[in-house]
Amino acid sequence: MSPAVHDPSPQAKQSLLSIRDLARDEANALLHLAQRFVAELDKPHTKLTTLRGKSTLNMFFENSTRTRTSFELAGKMLSADVVNFTTSNSSVKKGESIRDSIETVTMMGFDALIVRHQSSGMPWQIKNWTNAAVVNAGDGAHQHPTQALLDMLTLRQHLATSDFSGMHLGIIGDILHSRVTRSLVDLFTMFGTNVTVVAPPTLLPRDMSHWHVAVAHHLDEVLQNFDVIYTIRPQQERVHEALLPYMDEYITRYSLNTARLERLDPHVVIMDAGPLIRGVQMADNVADNPRNLMNKQVRNGVAVRMAVLNTVCQGEDF
Ligand code: NCD
Repeated sequence: MSPAVHDPSPQAKQSLLSIRDLARDEANALLHLAQRFVAELDKPHTKLTTLRGKSTLNMFFENSTRTRTSFELAGKMLSADVVNFTTSNSSVKKGESIRDSIETVTMMGFDALIVRHQSSGMPWQIKNWTNAAVVNAGDGAHQHPTQALLDMLTLRQHLATSDFSGMHLGIIGDILHSRVTRSLVDLFTMFGTNVTVVAPPTLLPRDMSHWHVAVAHHLDEVLQNFDVIYTIRPQQERVHEALLPYMDEYITRYSLNTARLERLDPHVVIMDAGPLIRGVQMADNVADNPRNLMNKQVRNGVAVRMAVLNTVCQGEDF
């Protein structure tokens, strides 16, 4: 991980804003640490003390279930003091600027601010206003680095390897609005994975020349190439035009239904960051099939966030 470009002070802490902040060996080190935390989480009544005396603030300006609760649990599992800031009952509602809010909470001495915001780039802005570590928990359609890391951890466990160079990852759905896709593409292409994104042209960015992925519009033509299939929800909250006029057609062309599941090789697994739109991204019986790794992804989310928090808050060695 590298410090942000415009550190406000020499004491500014390491942050995790984008997968692009990470070199491959840094990603591997975080995943290795996360795997050791997985083993701790499997023990009953575990609580570690590596972040005793440190404090983290969850600043979620956008809705979240999994990410916010797992950052909260991760901090608590390491004995940090964890505080939640929600926009609905903060002074942002009274007209306070985000900058003033950040400077206020910085004066309180938090070690890390965990930020989710609907605007792409907001965690970088916030980094300019604080000397706390900033962790990006999802900004607009831009980046969601801890999601990609927990997905890679899940595949390391499932495939019992950290070599993803021979693998083919297919990402299906609303690529245009998906920060999960951008972080997945950055992380897996760094590890040499072949990535294909599958979507109608209206759900793809216009210029993908720098993505280093293959692009397909017809799922049935490429389905059997994949080792891992990752579905991306139509991100209705970020869609301002009628990009999906015919949901029935989307379901016919892109949903993982029983017929498509039956065409997959036995080794192929399915992943999704959640929340899952059943009946649109996949049929109920596909969602509930043991090949769907969603529950493992959620569990690994806590361990990955423990690893990230312990690293950026400079916790005791573990
Ligand atoms: C993702 C997100 O918020 O970007 N979800 C998550 O973090 N669990 C994906 C999504 O909302 O579809």
